[in-house]
Amino acid sequence: MKAVINNSLTHYIDIGISTALPVILIHGFPFSHKMWMMPGGQTEALAGTYHVIAYDVRGHGESEVGDGLYTIEFFADDLIGLMDHLNVQQAVVVGLSMGGYIALRAMQKKPERFKGLVLCNTRADADSNESKIKRAGAIRAIKTNGPRLFAQELVKNLFAPQSLETKQNAVKLIESTIERTAPLALCGTELALASRIDSTPSLSAINIPTLVMTGELDTIAPPEINKAIKDAISNAEFFAIPKAAHLSNLENADEFNKHLVEFLQKLV
Ligand code: MLT
Repeated sequence: MKAVINNSLTHYIDIGISTALPVILIHGFPFSHKMWMMPGGQTEALAGTYHVIAYDVRGHGESEVGDGLYTIEFFADDLIGLMDHLNVQQAVVVGLSMGGYIALRAMQKKPERFKGLVLCNTRADADSNESKIKRAGAIRAIKTNGPRLFAQELVKNLFAPQSLETKQNAVKLIESTIERTAPLALCGTELALASRIDSTPSLSAINIPTLVMTGELDTIAPPEINKAIKDAISNAEFFAIPKAAHLSNLENADEFNKHLVEFLQKLV
């Protein structure tokens, strides 16, 4: 389905039980809602019990690319705008990596709109100088070589070495999603990520149940960083997902879904 949210055509899926607890899935960079929809994935695990919404962040998947000038602030406003459009007053939000940055910023802006928070493979801090320089290199590489090479290089850092061998369908999905993302959106989102604020000081104000998960082998959002997020939030739990790196929901969907479902069961 599509709706104009904050002047931008936004693609989303709205499935499951419309009267049940709404659960909104926010993908990472540069993926799409499809990362939650693999066989055995999260939409499959949740749609029988919950009202499940998964959308493509501005510039990603089937959502409008627009002018490529993005900020996490816009992305957070788009999340709230989509909730308004769907008449969802309160939801549990599940954000992976960039999705977690968006969820944390939206939570700061409109805490009353959230009933639970699931932060996956994410970070609360802002980019270090080193990360900003790395993003400049990525933008240059995308402009010079195009998204295909960027996709081939990126997947090597996203998946654990074992997953690259054993989860080839997931690897193919992610690689083709990245390849199909408009270069303008890839570069624009890199700049949005580089300019995001540090959400660490706001963690202690989070007073809703929170689940923090990351892959044991994640080098982008490692377990110690995610454990520190959990420690800063009063009502939070943390799990390191075995046999998984940055895309824990795809690399070890069974373990990921088990913790997600157990968390959601405690909320209703
Ligand atoms: C993601 O998966 O969303 C990215 O790793 C986020 C980032 O580049 O900071």
